[in-house]
Amino acid sequence: MALARAHSVALVGVRGYLIEVEADIAQGLPATILVGLPDTALREARDRIRAAIVNSAEKWPQSKITVGLSPASLPKRGSGFDAAIAIAILAAADALPPSSPAGIMFLAELGLDGRLRPVPGVLPAVVAAAAAGLNTVVVAAGNAAEARLVPGVRVICAGSLAEVAIWLRGGPVPVPESPPADRSGGALGPPLRHKDLAEVLGQSEARKAAEICAAGGHNLSLLGPPGAGKTMLAERLPTILPRLDPAAALEVTSIHSVAGTLPPDAGLLTEPPFCAPHHTASKAAIVGGGSTVIRPGAASLAHRGVLFLDEAPEFQRDVLDALRQPLEAGEVIIARSAMCATFPARFTLVLAANPCPCAKSSSGGAGCGCSPATRRRYLGRLSGPLLDRVDVKIQLQPVNRQEMLYDRKFTETSAVVAARVAAARERMAHRLTGTPWRLNAEIPGAELRRSFPPEPGAVRPLDRAMELGQVSARGADKIVRVAWSVADLAGKPRPGTDEINVAISLWLGVSR
Ligand SMILES: Nc1ncnc2c1ncn2[C@@H]1O[C@H](COP(=O)(O)OP(=O)(O)OP(=O)(O)O)[C@@H](O)[C@H]1O
Ligand SMILES: [Mg+2]
Ligand SMILES: [Zn+2]
Repeated sequence: MALARAHSVALVGVRGYLIEVEADIAQGLPATILVGLPDTALREARDRIRAAIVNSAEKWPQSKITVGLSPASLPKRGSGFDAAIAIAILAAADALPPSSPAGIMFLAELGLDGRLRPVPGVLPAVVAAAAAGLNTVVVAAGNAAEARLVPGVRVICAGSLAEVAIWLRGGPVPVPESPPADRSGGALGPPLRHKDLAEVLGQSEARKAAEICAAGGHNLSLLGPPGAGKTMLAERLPTILPRLDPAAALEVTSIHSVAGTLPPDAGLLTEPPFCAPHHTASKAAIVGGGSTVIRPGAASLAHRGVLFLDEAPEFQRDVLDALRQPLEAGEVIIARSAMCATFPARFTLVLAANPCPCAKSSSGGAGCGCSPATRRRYLGRLSGPLLDRVDVKIQLQPVNRQEMLYDRKFTETSAVVAARVAAARERMAHRLTGTPWRLNAEIPGAELRRSFPPEPGAVRPLDRAMELGQVSARGADKIVRVAWSVADLAGKPRPGTDEINVAISLWLGVSR
């Protein structure tokens, strides 16, 4: 045997592509050549794989070895091809039955001692392998749980290259295969729901706004003095969002798999994610990037969940600007010379800010010496890029102890609010059947005006606000979208004057 093949998967963004690894052993001076756009890590792979093979008590062929990875046009990054390359070389050298690697996808890095090491992105890689008809995958033990999330795939998790070789020669399956993980329901998701909306006391308007945003997917800004409960409220938004449906769970888990943020044995993520990057975060940390391996950023890690920018005006201007693209398109496109990676990034944005940089007071009261111009400039950092995309603006006032004690009797739990949100989402889904949108916030302006008008006459207050110059045409669309969410929560077939009025005041950000 001079030529043998094995398969692996390359990732571009969160999509996997099947890669064929060919190894050819020919007469000639001992040398190893890798062809097919290998990056630095792949060139290093040559030495790593040689050491791994030798330390697995296998023979390294003393001939001219050519390893090709195809399709050549795909950028192949990272160390996940190690196992496939080693297996192809061993098969080409007749150390393994020539056709034994057929129908199998190998995805693992090799240690110098021949150990199999886990790699990021196993979930989308196994999805791609299954789609290409390979229904057996070999991964490192640390990736086994993740690989098993894909139905209908046999997962072989091995500790070492030697174990894989023995198995391919007809020996025992490396590690006793544990039964596949239970994928029914969301029991596998991490229990993130230990926070509850009922803990936020007093802020009834803000709580209602959070409910409306959860229902329709609207972006929210929370403005208020320190200690009013902005952070508290934002952190509880995910607790009133519906669980992810199976397709969204797979999508979200894939993103976290590629990012390497998936806890081992976590299973499918079925809770909407909550991502709260610090204000010192770089642009790459927020929207994704990196030079060799492109990783998703916070905007993608928050996909189908909440991206929370606490102390929003403190973020770098270019970081805030970079969020425009995902806010508009629902995805992040990162272009590099060799490739273009797309990561989904459809999230609900929540901004929190103090009204002034000294963070002392909301109304120029005790301890705040900031001039009105300073305050305007401070919040102005948000206005252009982001506030444009915010449909619901809330000004929180501090709550006093008495209000808190009194309110304790009336606050609703997350479960109660989540049930209303779920019912509203159902109405929305029903109305939007056959369209590409699932949430009111996603409906484009033209479509909204054509297909989803409010009750006749209900737009009168809106017309008035436009005449007064309080609302722009673009703002009017946003108001109607929010009004739809208010109506969906109330179980009304269409928004009327009341719903439009609520939406106007939420858009203007005036406290009532
Ligand atoms: N509405 C509220 N109900 C109950 N507790 C509250 C409320 N607001 C604030 N608290 C208490 O104050 C603490 C601080 O609240 P939180 O961090 O949400 O304030 P913040 O508005 O984000 O302030 P900052 O501007 O300083 O970040 C909370 O941990 C909670 O104990
Ligand atoms: Mg805070
Ligand atoms: Zn101040």
